[in-house]
Amino acid sequence: MAISPTSWISPLFWLTIVLILVSSIPCYSADPDLLQDFCVGDVKAAITINGFPCKPASEVTPDDFFFDGLSKEGNTSNRYGMSLTPGNVLSFPGLNTLGISMNRVDFAPGGLNPPHSHPRATESGVVIKGRLLVGFTTTSNVFHSKVLTAGQMFVVPKGLVHFQKNVGKGKALIYTAFNSHLPGAAILATTLFGATPAIPNDVLTQAFQVEEEVVNEMKAKFST
Ligand code: GLV
Ligand code: MN
Repeated sequence: MAISPTSWISPLFWLTIVLILVSSIPCYSADPDLLQDFCVGDVKAAITINGFPCKPASEVTPDDFFFDGLSKEGNTSNRYGMSLTPGNVLSFPGLNTLGISMNRVDFAPGGLNPPHSHPRATESGVVIKGRLLVGFTTTSNVFHSKVLTAGQMFVVPKGLVHFQKNVGKGKALIYTAFNSHLPGAAILATTLFGATPAIPNDVLTQAFQVEEEVVNEMKAKFST
C-alpha cells in the first residue's frame, strides 16, 4: 500500500502535541517561590515597585519579624460599631513579598463590617468571641451566609463582596487572614458614594435606578 506524504499526521501525532501543550501549562495552585528568605519592606522608599524594595539585610533586626498591633481591642465608637486593625505590609513591613497578612476586627453589639471586597486576596477568618452573621455573594448573585461562634472559621473567595455583623448580645472579635501582603479593600458604600472626585450623579441614579435626592443623601453620608 502506498504511504501518503501526510500519513504522519496520525492520532498519535496529535495526542503527542496535546500532551506537550498540557505539560507546559504552568501550575498556579501555589504562591510563586521567593528568591530570598525575606525582604523586609522599606515602606518609605522613594521608589515603589510591585511590593516594596528590601531594607538592607544589615539593617534587619528581630523586631522586623514581630508585630503586636493586633493585640489591642479597637475603638468601636463609630457609625458601624466596628474597628478593623490591619496587620499588612504597611503596618508590619516584615510581611513584604511573603504573600500573607492578617486583620483584627472588633465589633460592638450590633456592629457591622460593611460589605466590601479584597481585589488581591482570598480571606479566611476565625471567630474568637461572640456570635456573627458572616456572608458573601458570588458573581452569580448567590448569597452564602452562616451564624458563627467562637472557634468557627469562614472563607471568602478572592474579590467577592462580603460582610460580618455582630448578632450576639455582647462584643465580638474575629481575626482574618489573607494570601496577600496587601489585600486592598473596596468598601462598596464609600467607593461609590465617597469617591474623590465624585462619581457623577447621573451615573449613580441610572445604576441604582433611584432619584437624584437619594444619591445626594448617600453622598452626604459617605463623602470624605
Ligand atoms: C474582614 O472582612 C476583613 O477584611 O478583615
Ligand atoms: Mn474582608
